[in-house]
Amino acid sequence: MKLKNNTVFDCSVIDMSKVHSISGNITVIENKKNIPFDIKRIYYLYDIPGGEKRGGHAHKELHQLIVAASGSFKVMLDDGTNKKIIHLNRPNYGLLVVPGIWRELLEFSSGAICLVLASLNYNESDYIRIYDEFKLKKFEK
Ligand code: TYD
Repeated sequence: MKLKNNTVFDCSVIDMSKVHSISGNITVIENKKNIPFDIKRIYYLYDIPGGEKRGGHAHKELHQLIVAASGSFKVMLDDGTNKKIIHLNRPNYGLLVVPGIWRELLEFSSGAICLVLASLNYNESDYIRIYDEFKLKKFEK
């Protein structure tokens, strides 16, 4: 089945804002308030060895918000035509990734935590893990 024809320009960085106090900050993410999908699943990547890459796949239906909860990393987005690299390094900013976009996460700082909020439960059949298959499905007639 053809992949959603979303582009990298449909992916955006949102500012979730923060409640600041001299004793520290709080950032809140709440369904239908500052995130455009209902959160079904949360996972986080941590203990990522230096130089390692993650991702390397696209999703058919899944919407995600990717947050550098600690440290920093880059996200490379690719819609089969355009590429965009986003540097995440503040816990109050999140990258919204729509379905049909190939993504790679790279250049993790030491101790980085990548928090991912997802619109669906885990389902391996929602993944496309082979780049050539991604290109074929993206441009299918
Ligand atoms: P994957 O999504 O490929 O990780 P990343 O995009 O960070 O490189 O998932 C890696 C493995 O973890 C894969 O074998 C499936 C498993 N996994 C789950 O079981 N449930 C989940 O919610 C996620 C995100 C991954």
